Amino acid sequence: MANKKYDLVIADGRIIDPALGFGKDAYIFIKDGLIQKVVTPTAAVKKEVKNLDRSQVIDATGKLVVPGLIDIHVHLREPGREDAETIESGCQAAAAGGFTSVCCMPNTTPRIDNQETVKFVQDRAKDCDARVYVVGAVTKNLEGKELSEIGDLVKIGAVAISDDGKYPQNPEIMRRGLEYAKMFGIPVMQHAEDQYLCAGGVMNESFQSTRLGLKGAPAVAEEIAVLRDIALCRFTGARLHIQHVSTRQAVAAIRKAKAEGVNVTAEATPHHLVLTDEEIGKEFNTNLRVNPPIRTTDDRDAVIEGLVDGTIDCIASDHAPHSEEDKDCEFDLAPAGMIGLETTLALVKTYLIDKGYLSWADAIRKMTANPARILSLPGGSLAEGSPADITIIDQDKKWTVKADKFRSKSKNSPFIGWKMKGQVYKTLLGGRVVFEQ
Ligand code: DOR
Ligand code: ZN
Repeated sequence: MANKKYDLVIADGRIIDPALGFGKDAYIFIKDGLIQKVVTPTAAVKKEVKNLDRSQVIDATGKLVVPGLIDIHVHLREPGREDAETIESGCQAAAAGGFTSVCCMPNTTPRIDNQETVKFVQDRAKDCDARVYVVGAVTKNLEGKELSEIGDLVKIGAVAISDDGKYPQNPEIMRRGLEYAKMFGIPVMQHAEDQYLCAGGVMNESFQSTRLGLKGAPAVAEEIAVLRDIALCRFTGARLHIQHVSTRQAVAAIRKAKAEGVNVTAEATPHHLVLTDEEIGKEFNTNLRVNPPIRTTDDRDAVIEGLVDGTIDCIASDHAPHSEEDKDCEFDLAPAGMIGLETTLALVKTYLIDKGYLSWADAIRKMTANPARILSLPGGSLAEGSPADITIIDQDKKWTVKADKFRSKSKNSPFIGWKMKGQVYKTLLGGRVVFEQ
């Protein structure tokens, strides 16, 4: 009969955990969905595991075992655009990408600017393959005019507020949003693009936009938005999180603000860390259209520098599904956004770790402990007693991104056909295997 002292053991993996340490070989014992113990593989431990039923053991020899990854910037599209993504399919994509927790943005239809819609999302997410935390809207209908009932949103479980996709243009509204957020103990997440400066822009304003004859959104639109809200953050003492940083000057502004003790944090997306605007002219691939736009090589390098020196705290995908019908059009007519949950980890490994910018320890910290800290989320460590949200990574596995392999309902990735190194081997959510290669 199976030994039921444990439900599952992850054997012989190499642990990378910001809390526990790095590169240690360990066995993880799981019981009732929780991590019961993490131990060094002594002869006694190995013997104990040998006696277990094989179905209870995951052999992680040669693999990395890390806390379930956390993505604090995801669009799940439900309610409203279930043709592009549902909460269920988005969570399947998350699991396939090694993410056990995601934060969903409020730009759904209807918007997540009221308790009913928060509750709807929470209910739909209940039996899904990832934990879903809801980010409520700063302003009603994301219109930037009138604040949402922020206290109500927090009371029902919103972990932050954001008008993502839009920038609350009115500084008075943003000031009040920050003040309410502070009062309720949550951060404001900010999509930093001055709407006037960006009006009509479909790519970065640069040599490339001139060459291609496309209207550009200038980098200064992000710089101004970031500077204004850093000033308001300093003034109010609230917590501000800058989403998808994409320019050299925004990185510099955040670096300076942090040095001055302003309560600001920041994220970068894999696409801003890997791509440049030179890609667009090759095929006018509409999956390269995204807000903020992918920028110049110099901006990309500055975002990497910011990630490396800690100015940028975490990596978030900005997973933004759009249907094939919507993306199958001229570049300037396409909606902005690309999916990212299923390619983020491999892009980080291939373009940041293998190129020597980040160690595995740094990368995992920026995808687990740091995002957890920014939004005060549970998880992000393999500490004993915590839910067994665990990602096992085959770090040297080579693979090619294929559209038909995506779990996401949408396939709008510019990385289709790209060769990657590093793949998710298994993802566990509360001790349940929710994805296996
Ligand atoms: O490119 C983007 N797409 N940027 C955003 O901020 C919103 C997102 C979306 O919802 O499609
Ligand atoms: Zn955004």
